[in-house]
Amino acid sequence: MATTTADAARAPVRIDAAALSGPRFAALPPLALYVHIPWCLRKCPYCDFNSHEAKGEAPEASYVEALVADLELALPSIWSRRVFSVFIGGGTPSLFSAAAIDRLLAAIRARVPLEPGAEVTLEANPGTFEREKFAGYRDAGVNRLSLGIQSFDPQHLKDIGRVHDADEARRAADAALAIFGNVNFDLMYALPRQTVAEAEADLEVALAFSPPHLSFYHLTLEPNTLFHRYPPPLPDDETTADIEDAVHSKLDAAGYGHYETSAYARPGRECRHNLNYWKFGDYLGIGAGAHSKLSFADRVVRQVRHKQPKQYLEQIALGAPLMEDSVVKRDDIGFEFMLNALRLTEGVPSTLFAERTGYPLSLVRRGLEEAEARGLLERDPSLLRPTPLGQRFLNDLQQLFLAD
Ligand SMILES: C[S@@+](CC[C@H](N)C(=O)[O-])C[C@H]1O[C@@H](n2cnc3c(N)ncnc32)[C@H](O)[C@@H]1O
Ligand code: SF4
Repeated sequence: MATTTADAARAPVRIDAAALSGPRFAALPPLALYVHIPWCLRKCPYCDFNSHEAKGEAPEASYVEALVADLELALPSIWSRRVFSVFIGGGTPSLFSAAAIDRLLAAIRARVPLEPGAEVTLEANPGTFEREKFAGYRDAGVNRLSLGIQSFDPQHLKDIGRVHDADEARRAADAALAIFGNVNFDLMYALPRQTVAEAEADLEVALAFSPPHLSFYHLTLEPNTLFHRYPPPLPDDETTADIEDAVHSKLDAAGYGHYETSAYARPGRECRHNLNYWKFGDYLGIGAGAHSKLSFADRVVRQVRHKQPKQYLEQIALGAPLMEDSVVKRDDIGFEFMLNALRLTEGVPSTLFAERTGYPLSLVRRGLEEAEARGLLERDPSLLRPTPLGQRFLNDLQQLFLAD
């Protein structure tokens, strides 16, 4: 009889006993650093990220100082660990000058051991684009730019309330590719009134730039946003599914691998920082509202820093930036791992579960059995990999791993 992932998880008693105690790590997961910059020129009507309209200049000098203090306070929790990736996200980090980003990266390098060749990404918005600024970021050590284009279509950009127009998007895309080479475009689909032909045309424009990486997000109506309160006329489910099919086949034909639900890359250009989230690696997040997940020999903790920039700055001055600090429960960690790993088209090796959670795979045996029985998970004991059906119904698949 063929062995399945669920069979492999049908663990000997010895391992089940281990599952009753806390996690055990043979080695800690890889560690990445996330830095949050919480300001934007204007709040977009669909956005529920921790971003705030910068009324006037964002206080970049005091904020960089706070980030450095934040990192210093966090050093004991990552002592002696190397960092393989830095991601400066937001908000709109490109509101900050190149000199501020230079100070920030120099301070990081002086305090944590960055691996040689570490990926250093900065999120930029075409509405804050200046060529010299991009060159300054590169000179400061940024080696990957993630550009929030969203669409190249003038009407759609207006409809989603972006501060930039199609011309600015094109100029920023040109400069980003010339200066960095390693560039991601963030694009969204299922925009108000968008047709399949329009979505395809938008993608054609993006592909003409040949960016190494593309993120394609389905525009969602998030609670606490203007679009949620006053929903725009969005394409129906059938049109949205047709857009997805068209996007997938165009990107496939153009040589992009669809490696995660919303991410496409040319071979070798997958985002290492985001892959670490999906593979349940560790990350320290500094800055207003930043999230961290850190493993220790006997526990995994999650932390959230104060969200409001003003409060964050006050709390940093008091040496207490954390708003939440909790140990991940044994009952939750299996679901958290699967929630991330199942987003990956190729899945992950089964052995990664124990490496990253500190528990044996038998912790999620019931979910595995059900997922395999429903055809949502491949029956391969060496892999945790969603089937094409599992990718299509990813939510249903992930829910199977929720604790009772
Ligand atoms: C945190 S934002 C930062 C990028 C930058 N601030 C910008 O918007 O240009 C990262 C990406 O998330 C996507 N995003 C934000 N809100 C979204 C929503 N409601 N639905 C789908 N994607 C969304 C956008 O593509 C955006 O570029
Ligand atoms: S620019 Fe980006 S982070 Fe800022 S409000 Fe718009 S989508 Fe959100």
